[in-house]
Amino acid sequence: MKTVFVLNGPNLNALGKREPGIYGGKTLAAIEADCQEAAGLLGLAIDFRQSNHEGDLVDWLHEAADKAVGVVLNAGAYTHTSIALHDAIRATAPLPVVEVHLSNIHAREAFRHKSMIAPVAIGMICGFGPLGYTLALQAIAARL
Ligand code: DQA
Repeated sequence: MKTVFVLNGPNLNALGKREPGIYGGKTLAAIEADCQEAAGLLGLAIDFRQSNHEGDLVDWLHEAADKAVGVVLNAGAYTHTSIALHDAIRATAPLPVVEVHLSNIHAREAFRHKSMIAPVAIGMICGFGPLGYTLALQAIAARL
């Protein structure tokens, strides 16, 4: 079955108790369950991962180039800083990568307005909470 990597960056393991007014009350495990359900309906499998370490995300993007048909990426704060993730996505081309954020990063602090991922992603979904992951899976399925 075609597999989509769903990669999550720093602090997303704390969802559910982390700033619920911004990120909502759902845990990452519950978002994974949503993704499993959405992927099943789309005839896709998912490989869902989280790390607080930038290098893990780089390694997983490289791995995705060999094993996945697309990537859903919530890089957390590395979104705003990481040239390494930007380069890793370029290195996976033409693998489609969809950038996701639970919150609307453009309605928050100025330092969140810049994304290093956006120029190398096929698109970005932000501000819709966990639904963004489902929408991103649909976007990848439509692209295949
Ligand atoms: C986030 C937005 C980022 O700015 C922040 O650093 C996160 C979560 C989001 O999903 O809304 O950790 O990626």
